[in-house]
Amino acid sequence: MTGEHRIDQGAERGIEHGDEHGAGVVARWVDDRLRVSKFADSVLNHVFPDNWSFLLGEIAMYCFVILVLTGVFLTFFFHAGSRDVVYSGSYGPLRGVHMSEAYDSTISLSFDVRAGLVVRQIHHWTALVFAAAVVAHLCRIFFTGAFRRPREINWIIGVTMLILVIFNGFAGYSLPDDLLSATGLRIGYSILLSIPFVGTWIASLFFGGPYPGTAVIGRLFIIHVLILPALIAVLLSIHLAIVWRQKHTQFPGAGRTEHNVTGLRLWPTYAAKSAGLFAGVVAVVSALGGLAQINPLWLYGPYRTGAVTTAAQPDWYMGWLEGSLRLFPAWRVHLFGHTISELFWPGVVVPGLTFALLYAWPFIEARVTHDRTDHELLDRPRTRPGRTAIGAGVLTFYLVLMGAGSQDIFAQHLDAPITTVNRTFQVLLFVAPIVVALLTWKLCHDLTARPPDDSEEPEPELEPGTPPELELEPARGAPPRG
Ligand code: HEM
Repeated sequence: MTGEHRIDQGAERGIEHGDEHGAGVVARWVDDRLRVSKFADSVLNHVFPDNWSFLLGEIAMYCFVILVLTGVFLTFFFHAGSRDVVYSGSYGPLRGVHMSEAYDSTISLSFDVRAGLVVRQIHHWTALVFAAAVVAHLCRIFFTGAFRRPREINWIIGVTMLILVIFNGFAGYSLPDDLLSATGLRIGYSILLSIPFVGTWIASLFFGGPYPGTAVIGRLFIIHVLILPALIAVLLSIHLAIVWRQKHTQFPGAGRTEHNVTGLRLWPTYAAKSAGLFAGVVAVVSALGGLAQINPLWLYGPYRTGAVTTAAQPDWYMGWLEGSLRLFPAWRVHLFGHTISELFWPGVVVPGLTFALLYAWPFIEARVTHDRTDHELLDRPRTRPGRTAIGAGVLTFYLVLMGAGSQDIFAQHLDAPITTVNRTFQVLLFVAPIVVALLTWKLCHDLTARPPDDSEEPEPELEPGTPPELELEPARGAPPRG
């Protein structure tokens, strides 16, 4: 490429080359060779709607990044082995105790590796925030109808990621092989065993024999650090590519139609906001990891079958499953010479139905409402009382299950018999969702019947004199403009 040619291009764009310095010269040099400026232009000018609820997905995405970074650090020091060793590190109360290599290395990580404890705690806290952000993101998608045509594929990918996030959290939680986590793993083993016909095979293949065996920690390690993160990374890339391609939905408002996207350009405003959000997420999880103790597993001791204690709690995103196990009646069924154990219903059927319904929701709703058109404008939850009431009722169902996962703690604190607490939760499980759904439905109707509130912030006016960061962009399927 000649110098003359470069000057011509600059002249076309009204740029004086004499004014270019440093980064500008390098950028032009690269563009002369790769011709990427047009593509970069379209990327940097991509428009994102500006609404706080759209940040929930981004918080989840940034948590994933932090999990990978902190996880890489932990991997340098964690040994995924089941070999029996005698602890000889700096934590006095456990010195001389027999334990697995995995537990031994987690204690060393906590007490003998510089920054080990804080990174472990940041990793754990981030996993909890990650799952919470994913669920909150799912709720925003659900309650605003963002899952409707044409975004069903992203809903399906999202539900799959939610399942992977829960599994990966459970796998990570199980790795240290302490009394608490190995008890959780043992519950997982029993649930696998309860699957009719194939359960025994799956459990013994995965655990390499009867529980606990010596293979499972090594296998969970590969699943936790490689297989599931890689799957999440691939699905997340597809998820974001689809958001990019289909463009964002937006709330209704002045100047917003089914055929445009209003908001902030990626560069510089949205990028700056998003970078700020990333810094904020890092700050919050670092503060949590540095200040709030989490999973002090040196207090639990190594796993011994007979040493299981009460008041044992899983991480929050497993609470609903724990509650399901604790509340379900002990139904043991004998069918054609096979026994279906009592764990099968709460451990396999309840989560199976949960995720099957989640996957199917966009299609169920489209069928019931006969609405098969494309939607670029979101619903406000109050304008869809039926959907909002069902969502609130279903959320209540899972919140009651989560509460039931702590029934022993309730019994201790209330000084009540565990059977009374259980019975109360069983009644609440059916009554509370119906009450909440009815109240939500009524509230939505009352809100839509209310005359518009003058004190509500007015929607931004686009014309005339649109500020530079508020742009219109043709959306998918829009008639060509100009
Ligand atoms: C690892 C978990 C997930 C991450 C990191 C993630 C990330 C994101 C991000 C950054 C966006 C764009 C911003 C936004 O709308 O919030 C988005 C959009 C979207 N997500 Fe997710 N997501 C995840 C899980 C889910 C789940 C569980 C669902 C639903 C079941 C879901 C469904 C969607 C849909 C339908 C959109 C398009 C929304 C629109 O255009 O308004 N995602 N996701």
